[in-house]
Amino acid sequence: MTTWLAGLEERARAVLPAPVLEYVAQGARESVSTAEAVASWSAFRFLPHVMRDVTDVDPGVELLGRRTELPWGVAPTTLQRVVHPDGELAMARATAAASGLLVVSSNAGTPFAEIGATGVRWWLQAYLPADRTLAEPMLAGAVEAGAEAVVLTVDTPVVGTKYAVGESIWATVDPALVRVNFGPGHEERPGADKATDLGPHDLDWLRESTGLPVVVKGVLRPDDARRCVDAGASAVWVSNHGGRQLDRAVPTAAALPDVVDAVGADAQVYVDGGVRSGLDVLAALASGADAVFLGRPPVWALAEGEAGVARLHAELLAETVEALRLAGCRRVADTRDLLAAPALPAT
Ligand SMILES: Cc1cc2nc3c(=O)[nH]c(=O)nc-3n(C[C@H](O)[C@H](O)[C@H](O)COP(=O)(O)O)c2cc1C
Repeated sequence: MTTWLAGLEERARAVLPAPVLEYVAQGARESVSTAEAVASWSAFRFLPHVMRDVTDVDPGVELLGRRTELPWGVAPTTLQRVVHPDGELAMARATAAASGLLVVSSNAGTPFAEIGATGVRWWLQAYLPADRTLAEPMLAGAVEAGAEAVVLTVDTPVVGTKYAVGESIWATVDPALVRVNFGPGHEERPGADKATDLGPHDLDWLRESTGLPVVVKGVLRPDDARRCVDAGASAVWVSNHGGRQLDRAVPTAAALPDVVDAVGADAQVYVDGGVRSGLDVLAALASGADAVFLGRPPVWALAEGEAGVARLHAELLAETVEALRLAGCRRVADTRDLLAAPALPAT
């Protein structure tokens, strides 16, 4: 007996071409970090409260000062229009209907204006190029289309090597389905490569050029988290990019508590990587995350179209509410003392 959520990847397998599936599933090098991510959340153990009124449970959270009904958001992923013809629009509509938050990859296959027109609450994810000025039109387009924040991905000075088992997705993908929010010929311009010299000054530059709060995605160390916050980050996003960058990087479940301690009340802390169930969500919230983000699950759900993404939100919400009730928590703030010591998972 398995749940609808647990069967997501398998059902996507029945629908999607092998190179697309492989691209979504793969990790860097030997995929050690990708494989560890899921197991690391299930290593936490809870000490539930009892004799508490859990009639009304509220799983909603505030993200950058604005409430969302879900304690998770959709992490940025490229290739959504390859997974389903409706791509980012299906993801946006289903997420808007659930009053959730969507983070849109700068390598999206749908114009930002069309995503914004769905009414979804959304943040832009950006990689910065070596010549920062080349990012300006893309950033301006996102601001105009209603992006509420910029998520700067900092774990990708170069793209981590993946070993394609079969044909690489990039051999077959139609360029019109990705990177549509850059001007023509963008990638050929000198300075369009990913920046290898990102630093705290880039946060200032991003804030000033967009007027938006900046979230830093791809932080694993408490000292880096502190540097980001001191440089003006509104939130730090603990991530190892789903294991797709530095293989053998620690599981985010293990990195999260120290980052939460280092950041304190000065900024929000989010986490992604291997979150697949309501119990995983509870473990992340109990570890101090202000919210979690989902990478692969919404992509697998998108293989079933807008209805698939809608059901992902609904099923995960039901699991999360059940977990909160069983743990004796009415709201996310009540979860912070749930973890049995030792809090770190034995991975
Ligand atoms: C197919 C795919 C594409 C991705 N594309 C991006 C991207 O464009 N930008 C980015 O910052 N992260 C990207 N990521 C990483 C996700 O945002 C996220 O960090 C990761 O998938 C979380 O782990 P999970 O898949 O186990 O939930 C991608 C991940 C996948 C699986």
